[in-house]
Amino acid sequence: MDILASESALTDLQVDTLLLFLTQQGGAFAASVDSVNGALNDHIAELVREGDFVAKAGQLAVMYPRGALGSSVKRVILAGIGEESDYNAEALRRAAANGIKRARDLKSQQVALALPSQGSLGPREAAQAMVEGMRLGLYTYRGQKTGDAPSNSLQSLTLVASDPVQREQAQAGIAAGEAFAAGTLLARELANLPANICTPEYMARTATDMAAEVGLRAEVLGRQQMQALRMGALLAVAQGSETPPCFIILEHNADRRDALPTVVLVGKGVTFDTGGYSLKPKEGMIGMKGDMSGGAAVIGAMRTIALLDVPLHVVGLVPAADNMVSGKAYRPQDVITASNGTTIEIISTDAEGRLLLADALVYAKRYQPAAVVDIATLTGAVVVALGNAAAGLFSIDDALRDTLIAAGEATGERVWSMPIFPEYRKAIESQTADTKNSSGARQAGAGVAAAFLRQFVDDSAWAHVDMAGMMGNLPDHPYVPQGASGYGSRLLAEFARRFAASTQD
Ligand code: BES
Ligand code: ZN
Ligand code: ZN
Repeated sequence: MDILASESALTDLQVDTLLLFLTQQGGAFAASVDSVNGALNDHIAELVREGDFVAKAGQLAVMYPRGALGSSVKRVILAGIGEESDYNAEALRRAAANGIKRARDLKSQQVALALPSQGSLGPREAAQAMVEGMRLGLYTYRGQKTGDAPSNSLQSLTLVASDPVQREQAQAGIAAGEAFAAGTLLARELANLPANICTPEYMARTATDMAAEVGLRAEVLGRQQMQALRMGALLAVAQGSETPPCFIILEHNADRRDALPTVVLVGKGVTFDTGGYSLKPKEGMIGMKGDMSGGAAVIGAMRTIALLDVPLHVVGLVPAADNMVSGKAYRPQDVITASNGTTIEIISTDAEGRLLLADALVYAKRYQPAAVVDIATLTGAVVVALGNAAAGLFSIDDALRDTLIAAGEATGERVWSMPIFPEYRKAIESQTADTKNSSGARQAGAGVAAAFLRQFVDDSAWAHVDMAGMMGNLPDHPYVPQGASGYGSRLLAEFARRFAASTQD
């Protein structure tokens, strides 16, 4: 399905469906609505006047022009955005997803959508938001279902601009929207796949294939190389599984690393988390095929960053392993040694993500990065604290925190700042090693995990995003279907874009 921009009048296009957006006050999209309303003999105004369609967020109405808009237009779909004061990129993403899903359900083939003529979003931002909302909203995961997929009739989506300048801006917005969506869709696909298919090697292959497509440098370290690097924390988690671990390295602008600032993105890649000998109860294990969602977000973000050609040297690191039970598996009370020499007493084999991240954060130092951001489905505690509304953000750098919060607002992938109090570090003091991987208590679990990670970064700019509550099955979200959300990919890519802009000032 192609998404194009055009400057023809909305009513001149040979399409079967018009998709119009409305806010409750009419503002941003008033011009397109007025023109269609005129051709439809005031039909839209009447729907609004009668209270049948008031443009609440999520509201939809379908009208049949019966020839009044030329011979090709069979239907007009109205999609509500909500209050004009709440109108922003996220509101538009959601309305676009709702509208296009209805068009698909009605078997539309060609859809034309008007860009806003006024308001806070220009044609570029609006086009990007619409494309993201539509691409992400139309995604469905069919997994390994045999039989034919339900047919999708949609062939073309045309964003209608009012003049050539607008059209050009919309074109740029479409390209950006496609780049952002491509990252999220890849992250979703990986996180939806079951652990018997999406192994560390599968993730590595997918990342390497993607890298070849978009021009990233890719390297995958195997067990022996990890041994040579003394990544004892990652290897301890991996040792219980027959499935070999991988350490995936993706690099954007590798050849310009001396000229550009470096940002390292690190994602937890636990392809399945049984809990190990600190075994999860059976209910708690469901969903754990998605415990590599942080890694998937990093791979997705790297795809977007390459497609946008962000002017930074960006390194994506994904330590990937299974957390299993076997005669070789690590145990509670084992003491292991991370690649920086720090010894770690294992309290819970279920606190495995921070062990993978520890070795990856140590590895990140070799790039002398201006910023390091890790993302992980790290703790159940962050889900208790924030639910499905936001990921927890832990940072020791104010500027980095602000940029991530702004990127979260812009993308609709929200983060919420949380503290790393000194008490949390105290809670993981060990009698027998430099630190331990869990306090053994339930209090402030997400903050304690962040305090653990902090031991593996220098005082450089570092932030940790605990996305356990955002990994999937978000309730009632217009552009996030059931299953993996792909959360984090757009957040990190937008973060990189903003970080690049801030270092260019
Ligand atoms: N992968 C889990 C965290 C998780 C829980 C992600 C629910 C998504 C949904 C992580 O490895 C884990 O098991 N964390 C433990 C840590 C504890 C043992 C210190 C937890 O949160 O219970
Ligand atoms: Zn775990
Ligand atoms: Zn885990």
